[in-house]
Amino acid sequence: MNRRKQIYEGKAKVLFQGPEPGTIVQYFKDDATAFNNKKKGTITGKGVLNNRISELLMVRLGEIGIPTHFIKRLNMREQLVREVEIIPLEVVVRNVAAGTLSQRLGIEEGTMLPRSILEYYLKNDSLGDPMVSEEHISCFSWATHQELDEIVNMALRINDFLSGLFLGIGIRLVDFKIEFGRWYNGDDMRVVLADEISPDSCRLWDLKTNEKMDKDRFRRDLGKVEEAYQEVARRLGILPESGPSDIQGTKAIQ
Ligand code: TMP
Repeated sequence: MNRRKQIYEGKAKVLFQGPEPGTIVQYFKDDATAFNNKKKGTITGKGVLNNRISELLMVRLGEIGIPTHFIKRLNMREQLVREVEIIPLEVVVRNVAAGTLSQRLGIEEGTMLPRSILEYYLKNDSLGDPMVSEEHISCFSWATHQELDEIVNMALRINDFLSGLFLGIGIRLVDFKIEFGRWYNGDDMRVVLADEISPDSCRLWDLKTNEKMDKDRFRRDLGKVEEAYQEVARRLGILPESGPSDIQGTKAIQ
């Protein structure tokens, strides 16, 4: 029973044509994948929580002047966003060594970095999202120099703001991945923050215990995955009124 035209199905979200031209509905699934789709699973209620968490973070970032694709949340699992042309880069910002940085360079997980590091990965599943440099990005015209300048600026501001926001609720923002898109508005084009920001795309560690509160619990089979997402939502003050039992929500698509 499809109410509208499906545009794209990704690993964690489905995109539908929005009600107005230039808008898109983002539907958040409970599906989880890791290691370029090699590991698959379900995190019950994840879609509902990520919809709420990403809404809150995008709205807050909008308030400090970061342009985003977010328009409004529609229901438990869907949000209305502006249609953008996704820049084919995953921009990763790191504050603490973890994940592939630790693996690749042999730096112990948890080592504080003396300065934040920005990395770029080409969005290409069949190549396994390879890391690329600014040289590759401009050589192959994935983004212009000016766009990349804006992306770096925004990524660092987003990092500062989100690090402070999470610190305030006892969470260390270890690293995160963001994506940007080109929003065409008449003759005007703006680079805006797109996709989502959630425990799927961030590493979040409890400030006191260093306990992982993000998708690494799924990637590394650490257990208590659902509970970790719920705890992040609870600390952000957005767990649904009726508590975790309410988070499966009504299915907007079957
Ligand atoms: P990494 O250490 O595996 O390179 O991941 C860095 C950050 O990017 C981490 O917060 C998880 C996030 N991430 C995604 O959101 N999607 C991905 O496909 C990958 C590989 C990482």
